[in-house]
Amino acid sequence: MRLTWLGHACFLLAGSKTILIDPFIPEGSLPVEPDIVAVTHAHADHLGMTVRLKKKTVAINEVAKYLAAKGIPAEPMNIGGSITVDGVRFRMTPALHSSWIEDEGMGFYGGVAAGFVIEMDGTSIYHAGDTALFSDMQLIRDLYRPDVALLPIGGCFTMGPDEAMIAARYIGAPLVIPMHYGTFPAIRQDVEDFKRAVERTTSIRVAILSPGESIEVGAEGAGA
Ligand code: NI
Ligand code: MN
Repeated sequence: MRLTWLGHACFLLAGSKTILIDPFIPEGSLPVEPDIVAVTHAHADHLGMTVRLKKKTVAINEVAKYLAAKGIPAEPMNIGGSITVDGVRFRMTPALHSSWIEDEGMGFYGGVAAGFVIEMDGTSIYHAGDTALFSDMQLIRDLYRPDVALLPIGGCFTMGPDEAMIAARYIGAPLVIPMHYGTFPAIRQDVEDFKRAVERTTSIRVAILSPGESIEVGAEGAGA
């Protein structure tokens, strides 16, 4: 599977299907039309261009209902559940965060925030969404054994590097890709320092991507 970071929390997974997670792209544009969009929660820096894309979209019930009302073919689910969409397995995980739908100056309840474990072509990717550290991340390891963990490290709105180090150990994925940092001043972090700290204290590898950069992960690639 080819994984591309498009900046902030937005990732493109390209395998037998093309999955776009949290389509807020701070700079640059979408390189390819996705088959499926997955949205962790309704904040604008995650919902992003979901409505404009008009693709099949996996989201928590409340967000899925909002999207369906906008004419989007939404696939509703909720935390702890799993669904298969076009052969791709989506498992919705908890996230310690909030969620709020903003629409034309109005705001309303967007359910709770979530994360995903997405399994495609034998490779399993955990996108934590926006979250604080929580000890049940160990259950995500025990249940789903993700090959790759995409973890927010920006602080302020999510966990920062110190908490994300513990998250990486709890989840146990051999490869961690940091996200949700550096997009704006409040979430500026030294990502190289995070990488050094994780790699010095664990056998986990941290891949720092630049927006637009891709790597092969899982069965076909060893994260090189
Ligand atoms: Ni958020
Ligand atoms: Mn966010």
